[in-house]
Amino acid sequence: MWRPPERIQFEAKLGHVPSREEAARARLFSPVAIGPVTLTQRTWIPAMVPWRATEDGFVTDDVIEWYARFARGRPGAIVVEATGIRDVPSGPLMRIGHERYIPGLRKLVDAVREASHGETRLFIQLIDFLSIRRRPDRAKYLERFLTITDAHRQALGEPALPEAEVRTRLTALPPAELAKVLTERELEALDFGYRERVTDMHLAHIRDLPQTLPGLFADASARAQQAGFDGVELHYAHAYTMASFLSRKNTRTDGYGGARENRLRLPLEVYEAVRARVGADFAVGCRFLADECIDGGSDVDDARFFGLAFAKAGMDFLSTSRGGKFDDAKQPGVGGAAYPYTGRSGYECMPQYISDARGPFGRNIAATAAIRSDIRAAGLGTPVVCAGGVHNFDMAEKMLADETCDIVGAARQSLADPDWFRKIALGRGGEVRLCEFTNYCEGLDQKHKTVTCQLWDKLDLDAPGVAKTADGKRRLTPPDWQ
Ligand SMILES: Cc1cc2nc3c(=O)[nH]c(=O)nc-3n(C[C@H](O)[C@H](O)[C@H](O)COP(=O)(O)O)c2cc1C
Repeated sequence: MWRPPERIQFEAKLGHVPSREEAARARLFSPVAIGPVTLTQRTWIPAMVPWRATEDGFVTDDVIEWYARFARGRPGAIVVEATGIRDVPSGPLMRIGHERYIPGLRKLVDAVREASHGETRLFIQLIDFLSIRRRPDRAKYLERFLTITDAHRQALGEPALPEAEVRTRLTALPPAELAKVLTERELEALDFGYRERVTDMHLAHIRDLPQTLPGLFADASARAQQAGFDGVELHYAHAYTMASFLSRKNTRTDGYGGARENRLRLPLEVYEAVRARVGADFAVGCRFLADECIDGGSDVDDARFFGLAFAKAGMDFLSTSRGGKFDDAKQPGVGGAAYPYTGRSGYECMPQYISDARGPFGRNIAATAAIRSDIRAAGLGTPVVCAGGVHNFDMAEKMLADETCDIVGAARQSLADPDWFRKIALGRGGEVRLCEFTNYCEGLDQKHKTVTCQLWDKLDLDAPGVAKTADGKRRLTPPDWQ
């Protein structure tokens, strides 16, 4: 795992605990409009994949319990995890690529409405991603997976060598010699596992993304609307297809890559297709990167340009994140898949308690404030959500007072204590269980294992509000003080 150069340990602190009256006057607990929808407070739980869906992408009771639990804390909004827009096998990732997913999603919506007493607004994050394979065994790769080309024969100095013989020769080469024969992409496929890119124009399904994606996102959004969600969050962040279009690394020459305006084109066309399908009464926003945090990637200047364009296009909200890219991901073990949260950009996305001098908390504040200020300077009121290390009232309230953002997102802190906003609102902020930012949850996510919180696992089973389920996992049930 990549580590920042200077390792300093940071600890989340409760900070000032407001009284109930003070909390009632706080910006954090004031309402805000998101297009057609109003949040009762400016608290937001960003998308977190908990790996609780079925292998076919259906909502399970476990999924429902997970979201209902967050809803009992009555945040202003919850964004349901990244959910696949295609009807293709994607492991236990939730899917919305077909009508058959609607009934399960509707049950989820109903459970959240009930658990939050109708207070929490519910969005769903819509994702598209390209294909990625596990890191192969060297021998298997050279014997089977690698497509043998004339370039390999030339490099071996044997233009007429039969394929089987080429494979044998390549297998016998020491790594440094093999590196001279294989292309950069072939070497990457060998060392990290094969991964598609939006620039793979030789592949028809990738060349055609600008034609296929607007319809796929629009259909998925219509299903979310039918299921009863308040809106959708288009996933334009991290390592996935739409973020890859926005990236400076997108060099497509078909009008959808290169200059910023071109990289922005498909994300805008997707938005327009979605809006045309769902109308003005359904909230549509996106999550995008305030900085890719990789060498040669998009930076905050690009993000300011994109944010303003999204706001001008009419998006109802913008939520920022940072990093989370494959480009600097750690090499996986043989049989493992690369995970985009293991390098520097991954650290920026989900910073841990061990950090550089800037600390792990609020690393996206400056970039988000810059994006928001451009939007306000253009006379637009589009609300902006900022997340990253938020864990106490002081920090959240200051982000609002400083006009960094209009809504405060907290993912891991909300996992540590799904009632934390509510405890603060009730003047019981001293009882908040603070996230330790060890990334235990993220480690489970990386292995596609059911995500829980380390603090939940440590809870005393006899303590109020703690229960154990049939599968032996500790679960938080509604506390009796609500
Ligand atoms: C287990 C886990 C799963 C996540 N899944 C998603 C996701 O599906 N979509 C997304 O945009 N971000 C995802 N994130 C990132 C969070 O939304 C958030 O941006 C990040 O954790 C930083 O915020 P925090 O410091 O409040 O946790 C995930 C984070 C965790 C810990």
